[in-house]
Amino acid sequence: MIVVRTVAELRGQIQAWRREGGRIGLVPTMGALHEGHLSLVRRARAEGCTKVAATVFVNPKQFGPNEDFQVYPRDEAGDAAKLESVDTDLMFVPRVSEMYPEGAVTLISVPGLGDLLEGEFRPGFFSGVATVVAKLLLQALPDVAVFGEKDYQQLQVIRRLVRDLDIPVEVVGGETLREPDGLAMSSRNAYLTPEERRIAPALNRTLKGVAERIQGGGGCTQAEDWARGELLAAGFRKVDYVTIRDAETLTGPSVGRPVRILAAACLGKARLIDNISA
Ligand code: PAJ
Repeated sequence: MIVVRTVAELRGQIQAWRREGGRIGLVPTMGALHEGHLSLVRRARAEGCTKVAATVFVNPKQFGPNEDFQVYPRDEAGDAAKLESVDTDLMFVPRVSEMYPEGAVTLISVPGLGDLLEGEFRPGFFSGVATVVAKLLLQALPDVAVFGEKDYQQLQVIRRLVRDLDIPVEVVGGETLREPDGLAMSSRNAYLTPEERRIAPALNRTLKGVAERIQGGGGCTQAEDWARGELLAAGFRKVDYVTIRDAETLTGPSVGRPVRILAAACLGKARLIDNISA
């Protein structure tokens, strides 16, 4: 696996692959990699990519002032070994000064979609994500970019951004990898104490309960209220939202259109998110 740290080296390598006629996949991450991330590399291969590049960059622009940027888990050597184990061809690990050289001020925002749900609880988050993802896509110009459904709203924001800015890349959503008890894999699960780790699967279990209720003809508001009570009873400290939304726009559901059930809740120091289709 080639490791590069500058945009120029990334572009040079990708151009060389292009001359060979390859189909190129990109998997952006913030590192602290787990099986969920690696499944996206495998997915890029399954989409026919002959070369797959992964990026590891803890993006300061998507962390709020009281969030965990400083303490976000970092393990470049471990990440490199994991990426090698799934035959990743290249790892791009830029420094903050490479991604945001002094004087860089341009931000991309996705109003509406980026202001709902996560956007409401984490102001500026999606603008930080949209800015860094647009940069990574324009730096690498891959054929395919793979993002996880684990961060479902992020995936929708990226689809919108790619359409709106005519970025010539196919965005693929990879399914959420879970622990055997249903907890969605996340780098932030490392923040859970053993006691909290036992409580955490209630999030996914509750989303499934919501799906059953609405499939059984129950009303959305009742199902959402039930879910909030379940999470608090299970030991979650605070429920930011549990909500049934239109699967694409993430606004209120409408008859005949696919829906998604999304939730965010705090457990100790961690804030967990999850979502499922219904
Ligand atoms: P990060 O949280 O590191 O996640 C990188 C990618 O892995 C995202 O597309 C995310 O949805 C996906 N992912 C995380 N957990 C997963 C799981 N359990 N199953 C499947 N996929 C999973 O998301 C980000 O980084 C950043 O916001 C980023 C897009 C890299 C921009 O900085």
